[in-house]
Amino acid sequence: MSLRPSGPFWQTGAMADVAQELCLYWNDRGPMWVEHRERLDTMLASLGEAAIARLHPSTGEHVLDIGCGTGTTTLELARLVGHGGHATGVDVSAPMLDEARRRAEEASLANTSFVVADAGAHQFEPRHFDAAFSRMGIMFFAEPVAGFNNLRRALRPGGRLSFVCWRSPAENSWVTEPGQAVAEVLGPPDPTDPGAPGPFSLAAADRISSILTEAGLLDIDITPHDLPVKIGGGTTDELIRYYMDLLPGAVVPDNADVHVIDRVKAALGAMVDRRRTPDGITLGAAAWLVSARA
Ligand SMILES: C[S@@+](CC[C@H](N)C(=O)[O-])C[C@H]1O[C@@H](n2cnc3c(N)ncnc32)[C@H](O)[C@@H]1O
Repeated sequence: MSLRPSGPFWQTGAMADVAQELCLYWNDRGPMWVEHRERLDTMLASLGEAAIARLHPSTGEHVLDIGCGTGTTTLELARLVGHGGHATGVDVSAPMLDEARRRAEEASLANTSFVVADAGAHQFEPRHFDAAFSRMGIMFFAEPVAGFNNLRRALRPGGRLSFVCWRSPAENSWVTEPGQAVAEVLGPPDPTDPGAPGPFSLAAADRISSILTEAGLLDIDITPHDLPVKIGGGTTDELIRYYMDLLPGAVVPDNADVHVIDRVKAALGAMVDRRRTPDGITLGAAAWLVSARA
């Protein structure tokens, strides 16, 4: 019998209304993403930098940050476009946007705004943005073609899109290594539709290409980006908590058996101690850098 309790929607495939499930999930999990923000920013920094470099934001431009989370890349985009420009962050998670707004205020970046909305369905002002960007926030649309079409309509004709998304889990040991530790206790995860909304829904380059083409985007470029990511240091307990809270496939609901939770923690702790170096933990990562034009 599998010990694996029901997990988030992309593990269970039990989606009555995908968009609503997504919204509930990200709002429920938002405080945890806020809590682990610094570790996540360390992990994702080089990926975001690579995608921003391909976007080439210029002074005075209006830029949209899709699935902006706690706002790290939105603030960076706001700095790059300067006072005459504007960076708008959109995200379904209200707790994450509260943190993004707080940080923008703290940094005195008045040229930012944040919208709580599903970026795949929100009615943006048509042809408003010069460029749109995402660091790992664009793989969760309930209807990907409609979602990307919505983004295309928000871009001015010729406007640029640049985003970074994960390749397959098998190419990302940052997820498979802790995932294997969890599977030692819970058993293997149930098979899921690889194209269902979730962190790996855009893992296949031909799928990205066909979605973007169908959505009317042009000049599509999909380039592999392979660079290990830093998970960082900290105590074993801190790292276990991070994995229990955020790792796709390791999220154990509160109602899980306490002995099962203890065994999952022990397995993750063993993995953490095995991979720890004096510089913390670094694991393999593989992503796509994608660019296109409206
Ligand atoms: C992996 S996190 C990345 C957050 C942020 N881009 C970063 O790099 O720190 C994915 C983000 O996408 C957001 N998200 C998921 N589906 C979304 C949608 N349909 N519209 C807007 N945001 C969405 C989540 O709330 C979450 O903040």
